[in-house]
Amino acid sequence: MTHLSSTAIKDALQSAAPIDAMRVQGWVRTRRDSKDFSFIELNDGSSLRNLQIIARNTLSNYADIQRLTTGASIAVSGTMVASQGKGQKWELIADNIEVIGTAEDSYPLQKKGHTPEFLREIAHLRPRSNLFGSVFRVRSRLAFAVHQFFQERGFVYVHTPIITGSDCEGAGELFRVTTLNTADMPRNTSGEVDFRKDFFARPTYLTVSGQLEAEALALALSKVYTFGPTFRAENSNTSRHASEFWMIEPEMAFCNLNSNMDLAEEFVKYLIADARKHCPDEMELFAKFVDKELLARLDFVVDRPFQRITYTGAVDLLKKSGEKFEFPIDYGLNLQSEHERWLTEKHFKCPVTVFNFPKEIKPFYMRVNDDGKTVAAMDLLVPGIGEIIGGSQREERLEMLEENMRRHKMDPADYKWYLDLRRYGTASHSGFGLGFERMLKFITGVANIRDVIPFARTPGSAEF
Ligand code: 4AD
Ligand code: MG
Repeated sequence: MTHLSSTAIKDALQSAAPIDAMRVQGWVRTRRDSKDFSFIELNDGSSLRNLQIIARNTLSNYADIQRLTTGASIAVSGTMVASQGKGQKWELIADNIEVIGTAEDSYPLQKKGHTPEFLREIAHLRPRSNLFGSVFRVRSRLAFAVHQFFQERGFVYVHTPIITGSDCEGAGELFRVTTLNTADMPRNTSGEVDFRKDFFARPTYLTVSGQLEAEALALALSKVYTFGPTFRAENSNTSRHASEFWMIEPEMAFCNLNSNMDLAEEFVKYLIADARKHCPDEMELFAKFVDKELLARLDFVVDRPFQRITYTGAVDLLKKSGEKFEFPIDYGLNLQSEHERWLTEKHFKCPVTVFNFPKEIKPFYMRVNDDGKTVAAMDLLVPGIGEIIGGSQREERLEMLEENMRRHKMDPADYKWYLDLRRYGTASHSGFGLGFERMLKFITGVANIRDVIPFARTPGSAEF
């Protein structure tokens, strides 16, 4: 039941004066008894802070109140006065406490000391802990900041489809969408599954990226961005890969790789500064309990220009580093996470944008540079994580794009609409994708991607 007349604990605690009649609702964090009172620490998730409730033994249901345990939900009305005790400015003297829902003794979120693995098993309850409450409030604030950043700069927010027929990244990491009966698939004369009989009369998948459709919108609205869920059936069990994650993808017409790299850098700094400014309690909690170096690192990142280096330059540095890598590096190979981290953590000691990658290791849509060997790609790497942004200037020349497609074993006929964009008023254009969860890992210091999204989907795990 929502009471419009109830006050968020965050607002109550920020009050400049006592409040005569106030009502709050939330979940009991702790309760302890003294001679004539019970003290309740109440949290409603509006902020990290609890409101101390004083329940006098004169309350008619005092016996029930004394049975309240951690996790129970209550509504309290009373008078908020200056607290006599230490540690809080205000406390609420209850006139009435309504027990809404008691918590059984088996409530798993008692006190502290739970492992992240255990907390993932109770993902439906962990938002009630200080750490996860803070992570999800920061997640909300940063989602807002994403919109603010782009809206302030004249970008149009566009919604690209979740169900799509194309594999933007060409990596084949697609979740198929079908309504066919998997026990009895319709087949053509050569025995292959006949997806013309499927719901959309063609093969369809969950999108890995909204980029291709965002390009169509950028070549009409000039500056656009998407912010939505994306899906990858990539069998990577790491702390930075999720099968379902949120991506922010700006796309700009009349824009080259350099301006694209500038925007990416500005965007990363903006989000960090926003969290520092608007989530001070949460950031302090992360600095205290998650990563002691967090705030110093983030402030350093905001204050300084990022480094830029070509892929070829980066490979040279890695080869000369004398470092023993699990995966050896050579020109033409993808940078692995260990290489990315060496570059940003050990060598440059700051975020670094690597650009101009060999065309063989990047998707078909990237613009071929004049050297004929590299494409105008960029990856932004940050300490502790590696890649958080991937982007490029797009191939705007029709013949080159068709050639790229054939080199990637794609049939241009399947992408007629995408090629049309090069037939009718083509223009240089660029964009990138920021993994929202990777950014949250960076800003909160939380080590595992499973702990910055409320309900993580990873290989072998889709509970809740
Ligand atoms: O580098 P990616 O694959 O680039 C694209 O999808 C482009 N279409 C983006 C564009 O140019 N519009 O992915 C972009 C970012 C990565 O840098 C990473 O931060 C994140 O998305 N990402 C993942 N995050 C979590 N789990 C995964 N499995 C991810 N795969 C990519
Ligand atoms: Mg990438």
